[in-house]
Amino acid sequence: MNTLESLQPELAKVLDSLSGEARTALERDIQTQDFNMLANLVKEHSAAIPTGAGGEDEIVPMPFPHSEVDLRREMWEETGKILLKKGEVAAFTLSGGQGSRLGFEGPKGAFKIGLPSGKSLFGLMAERLKRLNAEAERPIPWCIMTSPLNHRETIAHFEENHFFGLDRTSIRFFEQGTICALKPNGEAVVDNNRLMLVPDGNGGCFRALAQSGTLAWLIERGVRYVFLNNVDNALVRICDPVFLGALANNPGIQISAKVVSKRDASEKVGIFAFKNGKPTVIEYSDMADDLRNMKNESGELVFDGANIGIYAFRIEVLRKLSQAPLPWHAARKTVCGIEKCWKFEQFLFDAFETVKGFGTFGAFREDEFSPVKNADGNDSPKSAREMLGKLHRHWLIDAGVKLSGDSLYEISPTLSYAGEGLSSKIFERELGKNILEFKA
Ligand code: UD1
Repeated sequence: MNTLESLQPELAKVLDSLSGEARTALERDIQTQDFNMLANLVKEHSAAIPTGAGGEDEIVPMPFPHSEVDLRREMWEETGKILLKKGEVAAFTLSGGQGSRLGFEGPKGAFKIGLPSGKSLFGLMAERLKRLNAEAERPIPWCIMTSPLNHRETIAHFEENHFFGLDRTSIRFFEQGTICALKPNGEAVVDNNRLMLVPDGNGGCFRALAQSGTLAWLIERGVRYVFLNNVDNALVRICDPVFLGALANNPGIQISAKVVSKRDASEKVGIFAFKNGKPTVIEYSDMADDLRNMKNESGELVFDGANIGIYAFRIEVLRKLSQAPLPWHAARKTVCGIEKCWKFEQFLFDAFETVKGFGTFGAFREDEFSPVKNADGNDSPKSAREMLGKLHRHWLIDAGVKLSGDSLYEISPTLSYAGEGLSSKIFERELGKNILEFKA
């Protein structure tokens, strides 16, 4: 059997040099890690090649027709609203990531994109939920997965905002698992005599949901459908009744995902595909250029179905996925000032191929997807603010409001969740109150 000395000689030396509480704390960290597995991962990923067109796997794009959504929208919405009224729906937001590209220190959900209302990403989600709660006449349970790196600050953000007026007992925060970051030579990163433990990727969400008792909590409450979303999308229609109704009305479907067309070949999104006949997402970081840039005769991208981090699950499938072994992906990042460290992560969509019955739901970027990932340019606070402002301006125009100039608008979800219920009369009454005007 491999010993700590043979697998992690530097770490073994650090441990040897410690005594008392410091030693106990490091020993405890070490016990949480499987250094054999980590050594194998480094070996495996040092030789990994990205998924391309010429490999052994057969990769075929996954269709995401909008036509069915258009045809059945009303029926699905009605079903979804019934589910909400019966208390069969919960929201699940993934918020354990570190948001390093944005350069924001706190939990990403606490980030404010500069809207006139000053709402944070969590605030936007909370208000949309509040609107649905009012219609359903009951609180929708909301599960929020954090990591040990941001758990306390996340709860503090909710406390400071008085839980955005939501029922405190319907919100459950729980932490995901962690994995040790490794130096380029495979030795563990040690910081202040402790292992540098980082979140184990959003694929840890199924395990954490079950292990934290949150899955049991949902089942006890009678939840049957779970809406899951990334934390960083300013336009997310959290618990969208249409999307949930679509899942409920298709008994053969266990998991469904919203899909939009890619902005361009270089957009950093995963794409939906069938790999050897099974549904999957090929992540941008794992995709070779030939696949990324492949075009058909009309010059359109072949692999065009962008993953926007919005999924819906039947509750039974979540129990099954909590046991599913997922592969590890490697990223090379600077950790504690050391460049090119190994950070291993599991991705939630790798679980999809283990399930029979996967469905796509064609959505439109302008309506539903504006992620905040970078400090400037595309997918930044500015682009998200502008997309929200333009969308809400369109809602007003569609409702017959005559607008002069090119102002953008922020409409509080108290008035409208997805553009419904607006009119010129409401505009006049609410301008400066629940409808705020701003410039790009
Ligand atoms: C993710 C998707 C990508 C998609 C894009 C859309 C994954 C792995 N990739 O990319 O296919 O096109 O969103 O915006 O899902 N998270 C955790 N714990 C972790 C790591 C991440 O909870 O350990 C959460 C983040 O807080 C975030 C979500 O997972 O809400 C996705 O984050 P990240 O893994 O950074 O993926 P993206 O690059 O955003």
